[in-house]
Amino acid sequence: MPALLRTFVAVEIPEEVRAALAAVQSHLRQRRVRARWVRPQGMHLTLKFLGDIPADQIPSVADALQTAAGGHVGFSLTAAGIGVFPALRRPRVVWAGFSGGTGPLADLQASVEERLAAAGFPREDRPFRAHLTIGRCSEAVAPAVVGEAVDCFVGRRFGEFDVREIVLFQSELKPDGPVYTALARVKLKE
Ligand code: 2AM
Repeated sequence: MPALLRTFVAVEIPEEVRAALAAVQSHLRQRRVRARWVRPQGMHLTLKFLGDIPADQIPSVADALQTAAGGHVGFSLTAAGIGVFPALRRPRVVWAGFSGGTGPLADLQASVEERLAAAGFPREDRPFRAHLTIGRCSEAVAPAVVGEAVDCFVGRRFGEFDVREIVLFQSELKPDGPVYTALARVKLKE
């Protein structure tokens, strides 16, 4: 039996944007938003979560991603605004959103979904909502505290960057947080 690897497909976020989001985390912490904060080096924009897949399938997944990404030219994205899932009255995930190239991003994600579905990976049943998780709240968090803190970031931009490739990551769940390793990098069209 080949080893199983927990994998997902994502867009990497440049260091300066992650640093800006680390500052947002500090601000939220100061405002007493209690959450498990994502380490800045682990921040990414997930396009598709694949779960556990046999290691010997990695090359065919990378091929499917190349076919998907090869049909799209690079574009730019701006990390902007802070929001929560599923709702402000029940905050569980605190995320940063995106503006700018959200149309090309949605097209790229749809192609990834499409090509991976053709390769046998079940389609997501929820619509794609581009986000970058920065923290996960416990049940005990007070919605008003989170709501007021998040309001401070309406209209705030955390940096613009070019998307030129997508990455197949392995996620290893370790006691002090997940460790992500790039298994394949796939370029968009020049
Ligand atoms: P999230 O940021 O919204 O939590 C690695 O775990 C990445 O895959 C995370 O960015 C996570 O998204 C995403 N993901 C999507 N579906 C998932 C699932 N069922 N279990 C774990 N991670 C998932």
